[in-house]
Amino acid sequence: MSTHELPTDQDLPTDQDLPGGQELPTDRDLPAEIEQHALELLGQVSAAATTAMIVLGDRLGFYHSLAEGDPMTPERLAEATGTNERYVREWLCQQAAAGLLRCEPDGGTFRLPPAWTVVLTDPALTGACLNPAGMFRDLETVASAFRTGEGIPWGDHDPIVFETTERFWSGQFRAHLVADWIPALDGVGERLSQGAVVADIGTGRGAAPIMLAQAFPQSRFFGFDVHEPSVLVARERAAEAGVDERVGFEVATCHDYPRNGYALITFFDAFHDLGDPVGAAGYARTALAADGTLVLVEPQAADDLEANLSNPAAPIGYAASTTMCTPNSLSQPVGLALGGQAGERRLREALAEAGFSRVRRVADTPFNMVLEARQ
Ligand SMILES: C[S@@+](CC[C@H](N)C(=O)[O-])C[C@H]1O[C@@H](n2cnc3c(N)ncnc32)[C@H](O)[C@@H]1O
Repeated sequence: MSTHELPTDQDLPTDQDLPGGQELPTDRDLPAEIEQHALELLGQVSAAATTAMIVLGDRLGFYHSLAEGDPMTPERLAEATGTNERYVREWLCQQAAAGLLRCEPDGGTFRLPPAWTVVLTDPALTGACLNPAGMFRDLETVASAFRTGEGIPWGDHDPIVFETTERFWSGQFRAHLVADWIPALDGVGERLSQGAVVADIGTGRGAAPIMLAQAFPQSRFFGFDVHEPSVLVARERAAEAGVDERVGFEVATCHDYPRNGYALITFFDAFHDLGDPVGAAGYARTALAADGTLVLVEPQAADDLEANLSNPAAPIGYAASTTMCTPNSLSQPVGLALGGQAGERRLREALAEAGFSRVRRVADTPFNMVLEARQ
């Protein structure tokens, strides 16, 4: 069948082709339904293209210039950002077509409305737009892993993956870590205020321990990660934040960092990525003080697939899990591959297997759940 023709009856699926005993729409409905899906697919293509244009606007500083106030002509925006007017004009039209900018009635000036200004100048939200960029750049590597079944270590991804992770998660930490998550933990805020030693495992570029160090000046923090380039960036970030005397970053796996009797061990969006999360939780038990607390901050997900399919974060969650979380786990010994949408029940099972008898879900956001585990 040519891509431009509507299907004939012979092209259409029969009842036997449909999974799960779904009812076949009537012949009269089906072409309309196919046309509807084709339009939906083009909507997805348009959204992906707009995401790429948002990344471009973010990289070139367009949103911050547009945020300064008056509507701008392409000439003015180009001048303000040191870019070429002809390119800028095309980009502005795309953003107006996508509904992010308003084109003024004169047709030559563009305005960033106030609510979009907040969204598009937020480094975490524009940083999230880099995530699909990473997926596109890594497609061949991921396709090859599908065929061989081999894993992909975190460090083998395009570096844009490390940038999107840092930017998106920094936003989550800024919004919730000190204000909501620490106060929700039993006695942890008090211990950090008095002075405690903390380890963050799979720390990446170290955003979480740096923010905790800023909030709790009496405490000391260690971040550990297998990915050396991330550890080097984390050290720079700690120095920039002026907390490097109390925050140290080292290359280490979740099975060999120093056991210092920590008051708190944290895994921020890292536990499900591990090849052996049960072993990692077991090691953490031996590295904690007797009355210490283990914290998992994990992606928001329901326990059952059916329930999770209505989770608005599930499409991006499963995509990240397919391209990043599951491959990293499969690249390591055990390769349990919990997946980024493991859900609370599966996480609790892993913690229980490692010997944590008291587990509480203490906080939720649209993107995260926070589990507290005590021995
Ligand atoms: C999704 S990133 C999260 C980074 C950071 N916690 C954040 O919130 O920005 C997962 C991190 O876990 C690290 N990682 C993966 N396997 C590890 C292991 N076995 N031991 C320690 N770190 C590991 C990766 O290198 C990566 O930096």
